[in-house]
Amino acid sequence: MKVLVCGGAGYIGSHMVAHLLENNHEVVVLDNLQTGHKSSLLGGKLYVGDLRDSEILDKVFSENKIDAVIDFAANSLVGESVEKPLKYFENNIYSVIKLLEAMNKHGVKYIVFSSTAATYGEPENTPIQEEDKTFPTNPYGESKLAVEKILKWCDRAYGIKYTALRYFNACGAHTNGKIGEDHSPETHLIPIILQAASGVREKIMIFGDDYNTADGSCVRDYVHVSDLASAHLLALKRLQNGGDSKIYNLGNGKGFSVKEVIDVARKVTGIDIKAEVAARRAGDPATLIASSEKAIKELGWEPKFNSLETIIATAWKWHSSHPHGYDEK
Ligand code: UFG
Repeated sequence: MKVLVCGGAGYIGSHMVAHLLENNHEVVVLDNLQTGHKSSLLGGKLYVGDLRDSEILDKVFSENKIDAVIDFAANSLVGESVEKPLKYFENNIYSVIKLLEAMNKHGVKYIVFSSTAATYGEPENTPIQEEDKTFPTNPYGESKLAVEKILKWCDRAYGIKYTALRYFNACGAHTNGKIGEDHSPETHLIPIILQAASGVREKIMIFGDDYNTADGSCVRDYVHVSDLASAHLLALKRLQNGGDSKIYNLGNGKGFSVKEVIDVARKVTGIDIKAEVAARRAGDPATLIASSEKAIKELGWEPKFNSLETIIATAWKWHSSHPHGYDEK
């Protein structure tokens, strides 16, 4: 099939493009390259443009017979979203409205949407299930939850079928070593630890060691980016086979504390990565662990990278060979 990947030059998007190509699908990418990297694209046809621009959307859908859309295009920094909520609502919500308008106009009926664990806010249960309450504690999560609701009504009105995938902590890199995580600024735990390992930064700061967890540092569910990509393709296939619109969590169902992640990274790299305890980061829940039973059962999802050691080894392959990310910067 021919798939339009919006935000395909981003971290998760580029791994999606690779996965689609590996499975012999045709790929069209629309990305404004604001945070994405042209050199992260291992193939496909790139349109540089913004989803909020109806003209470029019209051009993409007119020039290509698109069967389905996967949308990753968004701003995704939790902290920044608290400072600049309107930026997040404008870019993350309005862009999907324009995309859905274009899909409706051009008769495209399937979309897989990149959602987040941040839709839940402080969890009421561990592991978190899809039916648990959603009460985002930041505008980023709020923007993704708003889109999930917009998708629901567009399904009813226009018959556009959707799957919203709520990822937990995306991490790791493609095993081919050619693509990986490169954010600027980098805020995520594993890349920062590996930057400390490769000497790009001096040390990793542990944001709080007084949480109600076994060792006091925050616990997260780390899921490999290529496993996320495989779930998207399964979700698309399910929609094409007549599946209903649904929401799924994507995680490994196992939690690791910040201190444990640092220890695993020391083991994988063989480097005594320097770490220091600092104050808590505002808005961090103590523990976020997914139940992905629904995705495993209904999508037939089989995450391949379920050991943190292997996940960090793939990330290290990328970071040790690209200490400053993609060459273009
Ligand atoms: N952390 C540190 N030091 C750092 C960076 C992070 O101790 O230098 C800690 C954080 O406090 C947190 C854990 O490492 O406890 C993971 O932090 P990340 O920033 O890597 O990831 P988050 O759990 O904050 O965010 C992830 C996704 C978001 C999503 C969110 C849902 O990256 O997109 O989960 O809560 F919104």
